[in-house]
Amino acid sequence: MSESSLPFKSKLPGVGDTIFAQMSKKAKEHDAVNLSQGFPNFGTPDALIERVTHHMKAGRNQYPPMPGVRRLKEGLSDKIEGLYGARFDPDSEITITAGATQAIQMSINAFIHKGDEVILFEPAYDVYAPCVQLNGGKPKPVRLSPPEYRINWNAVKEKISDRTRCIIVNTPHNPSGTIWRNEDMKQLEQLTQRHDLLVLSDEVYHHMVYDGEEHQSICRYPRLRKRGMAAFSFGKTYHATGWKVGYFVAPETITNEFRKVFQYGMFAVSSPMQHAFADYLERSQHYLELSNFYQEKRDLFREIIKASRFKLLPCEGTYFQCVSFEEISNASDIDFVEKLIVDHGVAAIPVSPFYHDNHDEQIIRFCFAKTEETLNKAGEQLVNV
Ligand SMILES: Cc1ncc(COP(=O)(O)O)c(C=O)c1O
Repeated sequence: MSESSLPFKSKLPGVGDTIFAQMSKKAKEHDAVNLSQGFPNFGTPDALIERVTHHMKAGRNQYPPMPGVRRLKEGLSDKIEGLYGARFDPDSEITITAGATQAIQMSINAFIHKGDEVILFEPAYDVYAPCVQLNGGKPKPVRLSPPEYRINWNAVKEKISDRTRCIIVNTPHNPSGTIWRNEDMKQLEQLTQRHDLLVLSDEVYHHMVYDGEEHQSICRYPRLRKRGMAAFSFGKTYHATGWKVGYFVAPETITNEFRKVFQYGMFAVSSPMQHAFADYLERSQHYLELSNFYQEKRDLFREIIKASRFKLLPCEGTYFQCVSFEEISNASDIDFVEKLIVDHGVAAIPVSPFYHDNHDEQIIRFCFAKTEETLNKAGEQLVNV
């Protein structure tokens, strides 16, 4: 039977493999240095792995409670209070999810109805718009422009209608590596209050903010905390992206509704990993030192790129460095990254797929969450492009 004769109609026509999967596959085929997808190529801490093994051997291998292991949620509640000065109740306001991705997806499933409009900032992480569309909602993109990718708040205001339900924010921002400032949060606070909007804040890179700047969590802002939901990722913080564990933080009324949907989407998340993270959270130096750890990598990578014809864009957070190749080629960013893999053996991510209309500014993104050896190896190739 041919596929077209099967009794279904695609809910996401025109969507194929994500650009991340495509580039990682190509990098493998050509044995290229892979600076494309956002994951570290160095190890998860041994002591954390030891804790997972410990809890598996201790028999913590059956379903944990639906919203998560309590002592992990208690640890997170303390951590958030320490970092952002807001207390979230471990029982009613924190939920452990299968990565931040699931927190994002389930919150959109829970709150977006047919016809609802959702404001997002492009270039945007690729999960948001399809999740909105799967629920019959309409993504309303606000375009950000290089090199600063700053928010034009008048443009945001123009996008708001009486159908607008939610604004999705992401700081530090993938792919641009920029961060929001206090002024942006104040604008967000005013706007969401005035138009009675929900805020979904993707904060997976909250421990990667550079040059002494402060991460702008919605948890810091009492009025945003009331109407906001935040998604975090253990994968990003603990060099364990493959474990897919994250968490969702929101006021009780939002959390209750979120959990109604979450319980049927997954029910609960890996028990031994949750116990291991609960133990490891006590080592706060791990996350408190993460910005310095990645800032050193950023500085090394920027130094390498300075010797090339690529033009560096600002990098204020995340583990991504964007560069412009406009002085090297007139090609589209997609053609350029293909050529970079084939001719120079380095894989990157083009930025145009992060715009709904594939807007191309000749900018590509490198991930610098790699060993010094890998960054130097990539550098040897990049200086010859
Ligand atoms: C902005 C952003 N949000 C969410 C995620 C997904 O996080 P997780 O792996 O915890 O699902 C990523 C991963 O690259 C990301 O860049």
